[in-house]
Amino acid sequence: MKVTVGVSGGIAAYKSAELIRDLQKQALDVHVVMTQAAQHFIQPLTFAALTGHKVITGLWAPEGADPGDAASAIEHIEAAQTTDALVVAPATADILAKFAHGIADDFLTTMYLATTAPVIVAPAMNVNMWQHPATQANLETLAARNVRIVQPESGYLACGMIGAGRLAENEAIVEAVLSVLHHRNDLAGETVLITAGGTREALDPVRFLGNRSSGKMGYAMAEAAQRRGARVILVSAPTALRAPTNVEVVPVISTEDMRNAVLSRLDQATIVIKAAAVADYRPRMQAGQKLRRSGPLTLDLEPTEDILAAVVERRRQGLLVVGFAAETEDVLAHGRDKLLRKGADAIVLNDVSREGVGFDSDRNAVTFLTRDRAMELPELTKRELAGRILDEILALRQPSQVLAETDAGLRVSGD
Ligand SMILES: Cc1cc2nc3c(=O)[nH]c(=O)nc-3n(C[C@H](O)[C@H](O)[C@H](O)COP(=O)(O)O)c2cc1C
Repeated sequence: MKVTVGVSGGIAAYKSAELIRDLQKQALDVHVVMTQAAQHFIQPLTFAALTGHKVITGLWAPEGADPGDAASAIEHIEAAQTTDALVVAPATADILAKFAHGIADDFLTTMYLATTAPVIVAPAMNVNMWQHPATQANLETLAARNVRIVQPESGYLACGMIGAGRLAENEAIVEAVLSVLHHRNDLAGETVLITAGGTREALDPVRFLGNRSSGKMGYAMAEAAQRRGARVILVSAPTALRAPTNVEVVPVISTEDMRNAVLSRLDQATIVIKAAAVADYRPRMQAGQKLRRSGPLTLDLEPTEDILAAVVERRRQGLLVVGFAAETEDVLAHGRDKLLRKGADAIVLNDVSREGVGFDSDRNAVTFLTRDRAMELPELTKRELAGRILDEILALRQPSQVLAETDAGLRVSGD
C-alpha cells in the first residue's frame, strides 16, 4: 500500500526520516512531499535515498524543466489519487491552518484538497502555538472533517519551553496509519463506557489515599474503541494523560464519584470496560483541616462501593461487562475468583509484579479470562494490546460465547 508522508517546516522535520523507516517496516510503500519551509530543515535527498522515490517539493516544474510537461502538470492530482493515506508529520501550525481553510498554495496543501484518502496529521510546535485558540479551532475543524489527529506529547520542547507540542512518538503515528489503512468499523453502533486511572480517597484537604495506576491502559482502550467506530464515554480518575480525541471524558476523583458517574450512564452503554484502579478502602472520617504531625496516627478505613458488582447487578440483557484485575500473586486463581464472584463476562488479568509491564509502563501483558478459557495475550504496547482486548471482547458476542444467566450464576450458553 502507498502512503504519502507530508513533511512541513517544523524543527521536528528530522524525525520524519525515522518515521519513514518505521512505516517501511510495515511493508508500506512510502512517498514524500515536502513544503518549502521543510526544506530549510532537512534535504529532500535524505527522503529520496530512504524511499527510493523522487521527493515532491513544489507545484511547479523546476527551473530548466519543460514547463509544458503534462506529467508534472497533473502530478498533484495523480499523487492525491494514488495514495492510500496522507500523513503529515510534523504538521506545522501553518499547515493545519491551511488545511482547515482550504488554502491550496503549494503541493502538499493542494494534494490535501485533492485526495479522498484518509488524512492523518501529527502536529508539532511550540506550546503557545499549540494552545493558541486559532490552532485549536483549526484542529476542531479538521477533526470534524474526519482528519485523524495524532496528539502531540508534553515534555521538553526544542524552543526550550516545557509543555504540549512535541511530535507524538512514531509508534503512535504508525498505529494511526495502520488503523486507517485497515479501517475497521466493527464497534459502530456500540457505546463503550470505560473507566480509567486511579481513584483518590481524601484523608484531609491536602492528602489522599491513592494507587499507582497511570490510566494509560484505559485511555488506550478508549482511543482504540473510538477508532473502531464506537461512541466512547471515558470516566476518568485523575491522570496526567491528554483526553483522547472524540471521546466524552467524565472526570472524577473518588470511588464514589466514579460509581455515580458510571451508574448514571449505564443505560447508554452496550459495553462496560472497567480499567480503572479503584480504591478498596477509604478513610471512615475525612479531616476538615490539614492533619498536623503529632505522634503515631491510625487510619480507620471502611470498604468503598464495589462498582463492578453494582454494574453487574443492574445490567440489561446484551450489556457486556469486562473488568480488569491487577494481581501480584496467584494471579490466575485470583482472577478466576474475581470473575466468578463478580459475575462479569470477562476479566483482563494483569500480573503487576512482572518487570517492565503494568502500572505506569507503556507496555503490558495480560490474560483475557472468561468462564471457559484463559487467553494469554503477548507483551505489547498498551495501544496495541487495547486492539487485541477489543477483539476478544467482541468475540464474546459470537453465539458460542454468549453468556446466559441461570440460577446458578453465569455459564457459557454453548457448553
Ligand atoms: C527554526 C524554526 C523552527 C520552527 N519550528 C516550527 C515548529 O516546530 N512548528 C511549527 O508549527 N512551526 C515552526 N516554525 C514556523 C514555520 O516554519 C513557518 O510557520 C512556516 O511558514 C511553515 O511552513 P509550512 O507549513 O508550509 O511548512 C519554525 C520556524 C523556524 C524558523
